[in-house]
Amino acid sequence: MITLALSKGRIFDETLPLLAAAGIEVLEDPETSRKLILPTNQADVRVVLVRATDVPTYVEYGGADLGVTGFDTLLEHGSSGLYQPLDLHIARCRMSVAVRANFDYAHAVRQGARLKVATKYVAIAREFFAAKGVHVDLIKLYGSMELAPLTGLADAIVDLVSTGNTLRANDLVEVERIMDISSRLVVNQAALKLKREPIRRIIDAFSLASVTQ
Ligand code: PRP
Repeated sequence: MITLALSKGRIFDETLPLLAAAGIEVLEDPETSRKLILPTNQADVRVVLVRATDVPTYVEYGGADLGVTGFDTLLEHGSSGLYQPLDLHIARCRMSVAVRANFDYAHAVRQGARLKVATKYVAIAREFFAAKGVHVDLIKLYGSMELAPLTGLADAIVDLVSTGNTLRANDLVEVERIMDISSRLVVNQAALKLKREPIRRIIDAFSLASVTQ
């Protein structure tokens, strides 16, 4: 049995064409089914639905043989113990710094002020500001980071930006782009040895299909 860990939403939707290229069709829709293990048209391949931030953990500890996870999640989780053969070029977005439209970020940075930064992505934010030599107090949040600068909890946020609509709707502006983000295929290292053939077939099919994304 090959077990693939996916998270619901954009990653699931954008992985479907890659699975199709490998001849794999998921037989239930996660938006309507309450099942956490979804069968496929191949008796020896199944999909497990896990929270996006849990995908690297499932794959690292063998709860799944493979998984698709955002590069952001992978950087925060740490990628030791995971084989990462492919950038799938799906679920693309960027990690950025954003502030209230009336906050003078450039001035604050130039002055060497201590910035309060709210984010779910503490490791990425810490490394980014350390490399710039900017002192920050990091405030870990688990959601709705956009609210932090609006309520005075923080001066800035580090968050994913895709269309920019969420920032605009909350009068925030993007002031720095930290990195481009896309989803990666991750593979359990023991599974790669023990189930080499079927896993290789999936990697090869994903590889071919993802270059056309
Ligand atoms: C992400 C991110 C922003 C939003 C940006 O949240 O945290 O809130 O998308 O997208 P936009 O630029 O197209 O408006 P997501 O919807 O992934 O949910 P999350 O808050 O659970 O991370």
